Amino acid sequence: MTGASAPIEIAQLRKVFRQTTTGESILAIDQLTLRIAPGELVAIVGKTGCGKSTLFDLLIGLEHPTAGSITIGTKTPYDDFNHFRGKIATIFQQDRLLPWRSAIDNVKLPLELIGIAETVQQERAIFWLKRLGLEKFANAYPRELSGGMRQRVAIARAFAVQPEILLADESFSALDEVTANDLRQTFVGLAREFRSTAILITHQLEEAMAVGDRIVVFGKSATLLADIRMTDWDRSDQTTLRSAIQTTLQGNVADPRLTR
Ligand SMILES: Nc1ncnc2c1ncn2[C@@H]1O[C@H](COP(=O)(O)OP(=O)(O)OP(=O)(O)O)[C@@H](O)[C@H]1O
Ligand SMILES: [Mg+2]
Repeated sequence: MTGASAPIEIAQLRKVFRQTTTGESILAIDQLTLRIAPGELVAIVGKTGCGKSTLFDLLIGLEHPTAGSITIGTKTPYDDFNHFRGKIATIFQQDRLLPWRSAIDNVKLPLELIGIAETVQQERAIFWLKRLGLEKFANAYPRELSGGMRQRVAIARAFAVQPEILLADESFSALDEVTANDLRQTFVGLAREFRSTAILITHQLEEAMAVGDRIVVFGKSATLLADIRMTDWDRSDQTTLRSAIQTTLQGNVADPRLTR
């Protein structure tokens, strides 16, 4: 795997939804500008409904922006959907495995979809199941696996396409703390090893602080309340940092100390 080569450039991004029942407009994202360098590990925190998952939908090309743009290299995910097949992988809160496929066949599925040869599919799927400690369970079906194991299969499936960009949306929050912590470390370790750009969405500040090179805090409509480079903060300042982020999140106001 070569790793990510292009930055993600988000410029003046805006996304308005119209609610089907009331016809009301919802401003999910308002004027978001953000640049993410290749290979960067970014944690996004923000209250429920602040537009985090909407940003992912735009990044994977499921939605079009109302205004503004996302550029990765010279392309945009929502206009150049085919270009990005196999380049961006997502891990969700639920594992989204197909129940009628074994672990290995779930890992092979995206490889099938992008037209990779069967022998290569098999090799890659086995490689990634091994990396996730699941070689003995290659032929097991999702119902035979624990929640943590199923999420490991989902991680194997994401890495197997050798994506440049990995997106994790609350991927570890349905698991117990020990398992979540363990999987998060595994995910981050692999993202670094394979030099993928990784963006993790989380509700939990502790998780964000444990993971990222960078923590981005969203306020209402994905307004940028803070953009923190972890290396700017000493270990001894972590308590100050934590409480500054908490105050920022609760009050929905930017803190000048928390901007890169
Ligand atoms: N397809 C859609 N149609 C209408 N409204 C939507 C749609 N998707 C999201 N929204 C609205 O946009 C806003 C942002 O939603 P989003 O799912 O991005 O929030 P979030 O930050 O991921 O929240 P959570 O932390 O709860 O997952 C919410 O008000 C939501 O109701
Ligand atoms: Mg969400």
